[in-house]
This record gives sequence, C-alpha cells and structure tokens, in this order.
Amino acid sequence: MTARWTPTPSASQQARGKRVLVMGSGSGSNFEALFHTLSPHGIVFAGLFCDKPGAYILERAARLGVPSTTPPPIPPETDPPPHPKRHLNDAVMAFLDQPFDALVLAGYMRILPTRVVTPYAGKILNIHPSKLPDYPGLHAIRKAYNAGESRIGVTVHLVTPEVDAGPILGQETISISPGESLEAVETRVHALEHELYPRVVFDFLTQAPQPAEQ
Ligand code: GRF
Repeated sequence: MTARWTPTPSASQQARGKRVLVMGSGSGSNFEALFHTLSPHGIVFAGLFCDKPGAYILERAARLGVPSTTPPPIPPETDPPPHPKRHLNDAVMAFLDQPFDALVLAGYMRILPTRVVTPYAGKILNIHPSKLPDYPGLHAIRKAYNAGESRIGVTVHLVTPEVDAGPILGQETISISPGESLEAVETRVHALEHELYPRVVFDFLTQAPQPAEQ
C-alpha cells in the first residue's frame, strides 16, 4: 500500500472542473470514496446512473448531492414492449448525452454493450477486485481465496467491449495471511480499492498528453 496520497498543486489545479459520471448497481462504497477524495480538488461528480432502483448507492448520491438517474419504467401500453436490455441501454445512452471527462464504473453489474462503449472508448474506467488478467468476472475475491492464492489484487482498467480485459491503468496487491478468513480478506481488498481507485481516476483526469519535443 502506498503512503497517504497528496497530489502536486499543479495537478490539483489541472483537476479543477473535470466532470465525472459514475455508474453503479450496489452499495456504492467506491463511489463514496471517489467523491470524498476527488471533490476537494474541484472534480465535479455530475451524475450517477444506477440500474437498480432501491440500491444503497442511490442513498449515498442523495446525501452527497449528486444527481442520480435510474431507467424509466416501460409504459404499460407499449406494444410490443422493448427488450429489457435495449430499454436499459437506451437509458444509459441518454444519461451519457452530457459533457464528461471520465465515466467511472463503480460496481456496475451489467455488461456495457459495444454501442455504449465504442463512442466513449478511452473514457470509461472500471475497478475489478483481482489482479487482472487473473480472475475476471464475478466472485473474483472468493475464487482467488479458494484457489489458495497467497496474494490478491485490485485492478483499475479502461473498459473495452470484452469484460475485464481493457488496458490496465493501476494495479496493487496485498498478501493473504495464513488462516485469514475470506471476510477479512474481502474487507482489506475493499479498503485497497477505496485507496487505489481515486488515485488512478485523478491521474487519468490530469495526465494531459505530453507535448512533443522541439
Ligand atoms: C467492488 O468490489 C468492485 O471492485 C466491483 O464491485 C464492487 C462494488 O462495491 N466491481 P461498491 O458498490 O463500490 O461498494
């Protein structure tokens, strides 16, 4: 784990006014960690999209003053009714129709289809609780733990149409102590996520391409 993170004043200056959109489906602990770490640097959390009405992440958004969006209900008279995935991703596309510098997936449990990913390629980030390319997909912590791994990781990567396979922007690992319970490991992995994700998103937003040498 790294020491307490403090960006340089010039990077902090560059961060001011950058706009982040978040998508999540569950608890939203990563969203809240991102918000608390990055808002003080003037990074704007312009909106949250949640596919699950009632998810706790929506309560966090309300408390933090971040506007949230959920997919609208399908009007009962719609005939034929739209395919549920199409309806959901139409709502996602409408949500993304606003200016933003990064779309941050924070526990969004749906696969984004190519029609969503392609127009925003290079601007969508995701966090996954494993040392990718190991253990992509669901239940990554449990799979690594049950396989007897001595180290376990967290990865932030760019999103591509292939699940958990885009270019890696940041990765850290911790060791599993002998006899440590799965629950204890999960708690430490989530703490590592809350520390790594804000740093990587900040670097992503502030690392402008370097000018070519004269
Ligand atoms: C995290 O473990 C993240 O790596 C995975 O989903 C979980 C979301 O947790 N993609 P939370 O909603 O941020 O608490």
